[in-house]
Amino acid sequence: LTVDASSQSGRKIPDTLFGIFFEEINHAGAGGIWSELVRNRGFEAGGQNTPSDISPWAIIGNETTVLVGTDLTSPFKRNPVALRVQSNCDAGACPSAGVGIYNPGFWGMNIENGKGYKLILYVKSLDSVDINVSLTNSDGSQTLATTNIAASASDVSNWTKVQFELFATGSTTNGRLQFTTKKKGVFWLDQVSLMPMDTYKGHGFRKDLLSMVADLKPRFLRFPGGCYVEGERLWNAFRWTAAIGPWEERPGHFGDVWNYWTDDGLGYFEFLQLSEDLGAAPVWVINNGISHQDSVNTANIAPWVQDALNSIEFARGSADSTWGSVRASMGHPEPFTLKYMAIGNEDCGKNYYTGNYLKFYYAIKNAYPDMNLITNCNALGTTLDHPADYYDFHTYTTASNMFSQKGLFNSARRSGPKAFVSEYAVWQSDAGKGTLLASLAEAAFLIGLEKNSDIVEMASYAPLFVNNNDRRWTPDAIVFNSANMYGTPSYWMQQYFRESSGAIFNPTSIQSDSSSLAASAITWKSSDNSSYLKIKIVNFGSDTMNIKISVSGLSSSVNALGSSTTVMTSSNVMDENSFSNSTKVVPVQSALTNANTQMNVVVQPHSFTSFD
Ligand code: AHR
Repeated sequence: LTVDASSQSGRKIPDTLFGIFFEEINHAGAGGIWSELVRNRGFEAGGQNTPSDISPWAIIGNETTVLVGTDLTSPFKRNPVALRVQSNCDAGACPSAGVGIYNPGFWGMNIENGKGYKLILYVKSLDSVDINVSLTNSDGSQTLATTNIAASASDVSNWTKVQFELFATGSTTNGRLQFTTKKKGVFWLDQVSLMPMDTYKGHGFRKDLLSMVADLKPRFLRFPGGCYVEGERLWNAFRWTAAIGPWEERPGHFGDVWNYWTDDGLGYFEFLQLSEDLGAAPVWVINNGISHQDSVNTANIAPWVQDALNSIEFARGSADSTWGSVRASMGHPEPFTLKYMAIGNEDCGKNYYTGNYLKFYYAIKNAYPDMNLITNCNALGTTLDHPADYYDFHTYTTASNMFSQKGLFNSARRSGPKAFVSEYAVWQSDAGKGTLLASLAEAAFLIGLEKNSDIVEMASYAPLFVNNNDRRWTPDAIVFNSANMYGTPSYWMQQYFRESSGAIFNPTSIQSDSSSLAASAITWKSSDNSSYLKIKIVNFGSDTMNIKISVSGLSSSVNALGSSTTVMTSSNVMDENSFSNSTKVVPVQSALTNANTQMNVVVQPHSFTSFD
């Protein structure tokens, strides 16, 4: 393997090359990174129907002692459903635990001993019902924190907002929030929120999951989908205006592609905030009037275009602009840096796509000439019939095909829009729930993207997250439940590439009969401005490879092959990580004893190795 590390041969890799794609799929957001613990907090999930769907809320007591229903008496216009709880039991006749209602969150709440939880809710009772509020274990037999509504408000005869800071005195990963009374009477609840007080950068995101994301050093965040942006039907698509402003007033919506309700606490503002907190450029995917099953005729698309323009003003406008002032009222007077927008998702070729696209394109470019616009149409081998800064490219395929696709962009057109590989993954039988095999093929594919990063400027794996209790798409990079998480090999593979964005690409060449090798080299700068050479080698085959590495042209200011080698492999190429064995397939670092610009190395079968 020869590496030309001379400065004249080097080429800068775009700063944005590797980022993340976050989609509200698999409960990645609701019940995932958004740390709201109450599910269906406004009782809106069933719409304004009778009987309404209040699940997963469930009663404490029985049909004789407590009657639960919904009505439209909420103080909030856009989410009018409230919960009505009628206790029929008098003091003496009440069960010792009382009667009432509980919410188990998203397959159990993670309550940790000593940690604080902020509870906010709206309550009304004409009967001065004495309401206890507790965090408990899964069946309510163990109380982990408790208070009484009266501790916050003595008169709740009108809708009253109450809030508490609850500190847990015990732990469970399967907890619940409950409201109970031992008094006869009626009370109403609405917009019940419980969040840990300790969240990522204080902005409401689950810290443990976000630390895994931050470890990837993503340079962009594409959000909020995917198909989630489109919807099966337009009326179920994500609409940003319904997902901004006070959380209590957000109506929530049913995502009909991945089939679950979201309260939309994680909305447009929160995605922009998250991008900022991660130091990642936001890539805002907008619906251009097209869902999976219906579409808006280009003749009628103007309101959708205006909606997109408003979303830019929300992100970038001054605090005294119409939409910028809404952002400022949410606590971010400074504009966000929004420079990338994708017009639709996987919609090229559908009715009205090009017509609608052009309306969006020219309106946005006219108002915001620096906005980078991304088309859904593939320009890999053809010239587009419309202008674009980037074209979106998705690939889900077998391992061997993904490995071969390392050469996919070698002959791509060098003029025209740049490529944005916003979704890639090995899937189906080769991938299982995340195999070593899949990650090796993906690593080779990314090596190909590094080589072609003059034309490929952005790439992200998909999907990023799955809540193990509700898999809608497999495989995914990070698997989690209420309290635990692990990375699949595809997650760990991405860590090998986190220094590549903005680094110098150094040409490599492999002289071997084997067609199962892929390799690349970069020179990257650490935060203290020291330069390092990093060589990555994928061995996709089942033979051990003895490789001679020969580095030429290395400047004396670069730390050549410092001191370590990092290997990811396993005894079986189909091995996966799991909750019970989360480190079966992870990178393992060891000392590099023979570091030199000329050195012989042994590369294991089915492995990914970096020399750092
Ligand atoms: O990543 C899962 C889905 O795959 C995305 O929603 C969609 O864009 C693609 O089809």
